[in-house]
Amino acid sequence: MTKTSTAGALHTFPAEALRAQFPALQRAGSFVFFDNAAGAQVPQVVLDAVNRHLVDHNVQRGGRYPQSMAVDATIARARHSVAAFVNAGRPEEIAFGMNATSFIRTISLAVGLTLQERNEIIVTDLDHAANVETWLALERMGAKFQWWKMRADGCLYPEDLQPLLSSRTRMVACTLTSNALGSIVNVRAVADLAHAAGAEVFLDSVHYGPHGPIDVQAFDCDYLVCSGYKIFAPHMGFMWGRYELLMQLPTFREDFIPDEPPGKIEAGTFIYENVAGMDAAVTYLAQLGRTLRGSGGAPDATSLRADARYAMEAIQGYERGLSLELLRVLRECGAQIYGVDADARVSERVPTICFNLPGISPQVVTEVLARASIAIRDGHMYAPRLMRRLNVPVESGVARVSLVHYNTLAEIHRFGNVLSELRKRGG
Ligand SMILES: Cc1ncc(COP(=O)(O)O)c(C=O)c1O
Repeated sequence: MTKTSTAGALHTFPAEALRAQFPALQRAGSFVFFDNAAGAQVPQVVLDAVNRHLVDHNVQRGGRYPQSMAVDATIARARHSVAAFVNAGRPEEIAFGMNATSFIRTISLAVGLTLQERNEIIVTDLDHAANVETWLALERMGAKFQWWKMRADGCLYPEDLQPLLSSRTRMVACTLTSNALGSIVNVRAVADLAHAAGAEVFLDSVHYGPHGPIDVQAFDCDYLVCSGYKIFAPHMGFMWGRYELLMQLPTFREDFIPDEPPGKIEAGTFIYENVAGMDAAVTYLAQLGRTLRGSGGAPDATSLRADARYAMEAIQGYERGLSLELLRVLRECGAQIYGVDADARVSERVPTICFNLPGISPQVVTEVLARASIAIRDGHMYAPRLMRRLNVPVESGVARVSLVHYNTLAEIHRFGNVLSELRKRGG
């Protein structure tokens, strides 16, 4: 997208109108939510879906009475809508659960049980620990590891992955987007290289989820995990995997659960009301896409995918404008920005930026902002290896500001004013 169209998106995207759909934003008044990487707010339709579930059919699925049958219907509907959202080939490829980490653990354990001569796993130093340590834990099952390292600009380059791949590689586990630096990974290139070597690809889409369209077919990955709480839904996780691969994995399940997806990767009862909320979050995004494209007619499965994709592309365009402004404001305050900082490369990042102000600890930065009613976060961002690569102490880490599509330019300017005052005072 050109600079002009990015500026256009910044002014045409209906952020203010969308904010009206988020009760938490309305209640909080002028409070600024810039810690969305740790969890985003939810629109009214999500709240309504969760409430409706708890009030009307808060019972176990699989019964022969209406409330229980309604739970089955909710889960089936959510599977269809999340499948459409990620462009899955079939809804059975979608599993629901507690969070992303437990899915990564489930899949990695099953992979660990099937390691043979292909026993190497490639992990990265850009990833959240959830997609690193879960794989490293397979060492006791005979796994060996290769590290795909980011370059000084905070990005992973497929050229650097190539020499790590061999006939011993079983899996490449990498993120779609860094939850710390906001850099986006060219995952299609990763899949092409990995598949050429006979390896599989496990993608962590948790941080990318709210920022752009997920398309498992275009990514050509083998597994992908996401978390509801980052993508305008309640706390829950979902996973997509290629049906044939899921069929082969030896996961834990009770004897009476058929050895097929999704049941074989959904141990126990998950949180039905939050799955209803996730379904409604897809509806919210699809509705946004419908409004922006001016689609007519009744929504169906095909239009759900097209509408949600349209919304995510519009969000991407708007957020590039937010990133440019954030970068400008941070530069003006003399902040050290970690990761992609050039305007010309803004399409390689999302508006999640780690920074430090010279001579002022990240804790002081976040406390001062909190006193000004602006929420950001400090620390290691659950990526201690990444902090070491950035040459910052893991204990203090960095400050991270993370925006989503309901944030505005005006909020960025308030954030910038507090930072420049702090910089002038010197702490
Ligand atoms: C990139 C990334 N991966 C994984 C996780 C862990 O997700 P969950 O809390 O759903 O297990 C997070 C959480 O912030 C994340 O940002």
